[in-house]
Amino acid sequence: MAQPSLNIGMVGHVDHGKTTLVRALSGVWTDTHSEEIKRGISIRLGYADTVFRKCPECPEPQCYTVEKKCAHCGAKTDEIKTVSFVDAPGHETLMATMLSGAAIMDGAMLVIAANETCPQPQTKEHLMALNVIGIKNVVIVQNKIDLVPRERVLESYQEIKEFVKGTVAENAPIIPISAQQKINIDALIQALDTYIPVPEHKIEQDAQMLIARSFDINHPGFTYEEIKGGVIGGTLTQGSFKEGDDVEIRPGLKITSDGVTRWEPVFTKITEIHAGKSKVKKAVPGGLLALGTQLDPSLTKGDSLTGQVVGIPGTLPPTRDGFLMKLDLLKRVVGVTNESEINEIKTSEPLMLNIGTATTVGVVTSARKDLAEVKLKRPVCVDKGAHVAISRRIDSRWRLIGVGIIED
Ligand code: GTP
Repeated sequence: MAQPSLNIGMVGHVDHGKTTLVRALSGVWTDTHSEEIKRGISIRLGYADTVFRKCPECPEPQCYTVEKKCAHCGAKTDEIKTVSFVDAPGHETLMATMLSGAAIMDGAMLVIAANETCPQPQTKEHLMALNVIGIKNVVIVQNKIDLVPRERVLESYQEIKEFVKGTVAENAPIIPISAQQKINIDALIQALDTYIPVPEHKIEQDAQMLIARSFDINHPGFTYEEIKGGVIGGTLTQGSFKEGDDVEIRPGLKITSDGVTRWEPVFTKITEIHAGKSKVKKAVPGGLLALGTQLDPSLTKGDSLTGQVVGIPGTLPPTRDGFLMKLDLLKRVVGVTNESEINEIKTSEPLMLNIGTATTVGVVTSARKDLAEVKLKRPVCVDKGAHVAISRRIDSRWRLIGVGIIED
């Protein structure tokens, strides 16, 4: 399997069928993942890779499949492209995880179950997140059509149309399917192939990888010779990495001495690279990578490096412990039954900020109508111009209230 060329996010309300759909689209995996590194990653990342294929003999959309042999005519199918699915959690308390996931999505499937009225709270909140983050390539999946009569499918279609008016998904195709019964999966693959194109990758620029997960893949009882270095999982937003590259990770490690805390970059070497299901010598943007490193695995254990950035030493953006951002706030809070108005940001209020795959809390040190300065509890490595998803604590939960653009 080739390195995936893009990441497609799965978003939508809890239980609307995202995980079932990923399974239907990635087929049955018969490959055994012998190496630890691959097993750890595929189980824990909520990621799956698949190859979209096309039968050379059959008409559209029946020709689209993920199988090597066409189910209609038995012909050998041709590869179109390899994609990675990022499965975002639908539960409302996991919005921070969804927003971090959204940072690495090139496009998204918004899964909406036809047996419930639309929109459900997280359907709304996730679509708003796509809007705020600027993910424009969206395919709407109307799922569970096997559970309802034809009239309800049509009614649900009208509800969806009404709901997406004025959003990034206004003109998105709506594909009715059953993920569980595998109905219309061919038409869905056709829509994904058409509406979520492979982005233009900036391979010539300095490498920057956003860390989504990090692991210690060693098991109790491993001998000294068997112990492997820390593993980092994430996606390259630009540039490329080769096996053997020296890299820097920022912000790095938190060091406290004499009551003063500072963050120091970490330097290491890439010992191996896994892209999709294969071990590769070189990797470019697209899909999830797992980098084996020479780091002490205790540094990468339990996602401790999530939100950090990896690059060639000396080329990464600065580590910031605060910044000024230009604000673009939503009018109303979404994802709640009582959609109250969003008031202006005030000095000294805490905000949850998602920047790339990083989640941090920023306390507002000064606020004007469309500008806010924040001091971060945990620094981030980021350039000017980057997008920040801003959430505020409302009724004991972080709610997305808008987007910021880092000015300084
Ligand atoms: P979270 O990850 O918790 O947000 O849920 P999810 O959106 O991934 O939903 P999941 O795939 O776990 O599906 C929820 C339930 O709906 C499961 O019991 C599935 O078997 C069922 N389901 C999913 N798709 C379909 C479908 O097309 N038809 C029917 N009848 N059931 C479905």
